[in-house]
Amino acid sequence: MSAKIIDGKAFAATVREKVAGHVAHIKQERGITPGLAVVLVGEDPASAVYVRNKGKQTVEVGMASFEHKLAADTSEEALLALIEQLNADPEVHGILVQLPLPAHLNSDLVINAIDPAKDVDGFHISNVGLLGTGQKSMVPCTPLGCLMMLRDHHGSLSGMDAVVVGRSNIVGKPMAQLLLGDSCTVTIAHSRTKDLAEVVRRADIVVAAVGRPEMIPGDWIKEGATVIDVGINRVPGDAGKTRLVGDVDYASASERAGAITPVPGGVGPMTIACLLANTVTACCRANG
Ligand code: GUN
Repeated sequence: MSAKIIDGKAFAATVREKVAGHVAHIKQERGITPGLAVVLVGEDPASAVYVRNKGKQTVEVGMASFEHKLAADTSEEALLALIEQLNADPEVHGILVQLPLPAHLNSDLVINAIDPAKDVDGFHISNVGLLGTGQKSMVPCTPLGCLMMLRDHHGSLSGMDAVVVGRSNIVGKPMAQLLLGDSCTVTIAHSRTKDLAEVVRRADIVVAAVGRPEMIPGDWIKEGATVIDVGINRVPGDAGKTRLVGDVDYASASERAGAITPVPGGVGPMTIACLLANTVTACCRANG
C-alpha cells in the first residue's frame, strides 16, 4: 500500500486565503487592520529565517507586521519593557517572542508577561490551562495545524488510538490535549518509553515530534495509520549539501501508512498559516 500524501503546502495556502478574506472584511467593516508583533532576540540563523517568513506572510494576507530585532545581550528588563509596550498597543493584536531565547533570559517569565489575549503562540500559562480544561484559548500553532490536517483527512477522530511521540510544551503536550479534546485515546511517548515500537504499532494516528532524524522506521507503523511528522531535521546529503528529513523514515513509512505528511511540505507550512489565523482570532476577540 502506498500512502496518500497530505499536502500541507496546499492546505496552508487555503488557510491563508481564508485569513486574507477575514482580514479584508475586518478592514472594510470595522476599519481595523489586524497586527502581529514578532520579537527576535539574538542572531540565531534558523530563527531569523522563521521570523522573516512570518513577517512576509503576515503582510501578504493584508495584516500589519511589526518586527522587533534585539541584540543577543538584551536585558530581561528591556525585553519585559518592550512586551509591556506591545501589550498596551491597540494596533498589536498578536505578540510572538521567537524561541529559544538566549540562555540569560527566563523564557517562562518572558512568555507569561505577554497579555494572554495577544498570546498567539498559546504558550502563556493561562492559555495552557484553558486548553487543558477544554475552554476557549489560544491554541499553539504547530499542533493546531496538525489537528486541522487530521480533521480534514478523517472527518471525526472520535475513538481513534493516537500516539504522540515527544513531550515538549510547544508540540507534544498541547497536541495530546487537542487529540483528547477530539475524543481520541491518547498516549504520550518519549525517550524513556519502554518498547516504543510496540506503542507506535498500536496507533491509528502517529504524531512524531521528537527532533531526531528518521528515528521512527516504517515497520513501526500500523497498516493504514495516519502519520503526521513534525520533525524538521537537517542531515548531510549528496555532494556536500544538506537535506531536510522528518522524525519518521518517510520512504518505508509511506509503504505502510494510509496517509502521511512529507518533510518538507507537510506540517511546516501549516504552522505559520495557523499563526496568521490565531492573530485574526485575537483581533476579533479584542474587538467584540
Ligand atoms: N520556535 C520554534 N517554534 C516556535 C513557535 O511555534 N513559536 C515560537 N515563539 N518560537 C518557536
